[in-house]
Amino acid sequence: EKVILAYSGGLDTTAIIPWLKENFDYEVICVCIDCGQAEELDGLEERAKFCGASKLYVLDVIDEFCDEYVMPCVKAHAVYENKYLLGTSMARPLIAKKLVEIARKEGATAICHGATGKGNDQIRFELGIKALAPDLKIIAAWRNEKWTMDSRESEIEYCKAHGIDLPFSADSSYSRDRNLWHISHEGLELEDPANEPNYEHLLVLGTTPEKAPDEPEYVTMTFEKGTPTSINGEKMKVSDIIRKLNELGGKHGIGIVDIVENRVVGMKSRGVYETPGGTILYEAHQQLEELILDRETTTTKLDMGNKFAQIVYEGKWFTPLREAVQAFIESTQENVTGEVKFKLYKGNIIKAGTTSPYSLYNESIASFTTGDLYDHHDAEGFINLFGLSSKVRAMKQQEIEKN
Ligand code: ARG
Ligand code: SIN
Repeated sequence: EKVILAYSGGLDTTAIIPWLKENFDYEVICVCIDCGQAEELDGLEERAKFCGASKLYVLDVIDEFCDEYVMPCVKAHAVYENKYLLGTSMARPLIAKKLVEIARKEGATAICHGATGKGNDQIRFELGIKALAPDLKIIAAWRNEKWTMDSRESEIEYCKAHGIDLPFSADSSYSRDRNLWHISHEGLELEDPANEPNYEHLLVLGTTPEKAPDEPEYVTMTFEKGTPTSINGEKMKVSDIIRKLNELGGKHGIGIVDIVENRVVGMKSRGVYETPGGTILYEAHQQLEELILDRETTTTKLDMGNKFAQIVYEGKWFTPLREAVQAFIESTQENVTGEVKFKLYKGNIIKAGTTSPYSLYNESIASFTTGDLYDHHDAEGFINLFGLSSKVRAMKQQEIEKN
């Protein structure tokens, strides 16, 4: 029988290969899903085969990730607990989907992953697999009773005992997850919220605001129906726009977030996220939407965006609710077309002008000089009715106090 292993090339998932063969007698097929984790993919095939896998698939899903998973979150302004731009959460359902596709292609009966029993990722992988392939067996190595390794040292020992001697270092680094949208850092000094992050040691995608250039940099972007289409006059697909924004944002110290978040399993966990390009993209999209969406749509969309963030964080991507909320968001994007200009300066994104053919901003109404469309006197009757219930309540209160 065959098992599909979600493989990253790191020590954890590498140790799982001999473990699966020894304990389950499976033929192990490794699948590495490339959502833009960059350099980490070098030498992966040799490693997987050397460790006993019969095959390694490397799937480049970067464009699908950006178009189908990242963009709905951008359009929704999905932010978890006010800070986290969901970089890891967004990628998990796509990874689950691809694992299922390969499982079908290979006729495998099980899927194995290396997420721990304490985190969110196990939930996201498994909810995705259950929703797409309820018949497949799921093996969560770290929760399995046959799993005996509990440290990097013991994993290295286990590998060595199975003839696998690879240059993994025993000293642990941060627990990281990287893709085109972000990199997350957890562990080491971050585990105590009293500690300041060691940014020197930690940052991968950019620099701190302190070390960013002293000169601001202007950027112009265009959007069509909520999707970014060009940057500084150059037409690009979404993934390339994110790459370019990562470069710009990293340079200017943008998108570094330090958060204690509530995991789905109940614990609080402290992490630092770098989302340089994503932070700019969210801001730029918002800058444009401000001109275009009416008041009620804006407030309802804020609620829906919050809901969307929760759905994505909890791994409930493949659900009717996610589809319904996404359809609402998508319909608000019909007129989100136009151009935004802003400057990047030491961790800040500062607006420098916005235009749209669909702008609802009406200068003659908004300006302080009186025009035809807006008569100041209309406000009086409006306020009388708008405030009527407040007035009635206060009158009653006065009456009660008198008696
Ligand atoms: N806490 C973040 C989340 O739940 C990041 C998780 C990082 N995952 C990892 N395998 N290092 O989305
Ligand atoms: C893990 O525990 O596997 C990573 C962290 C998380 O999933 O939240």
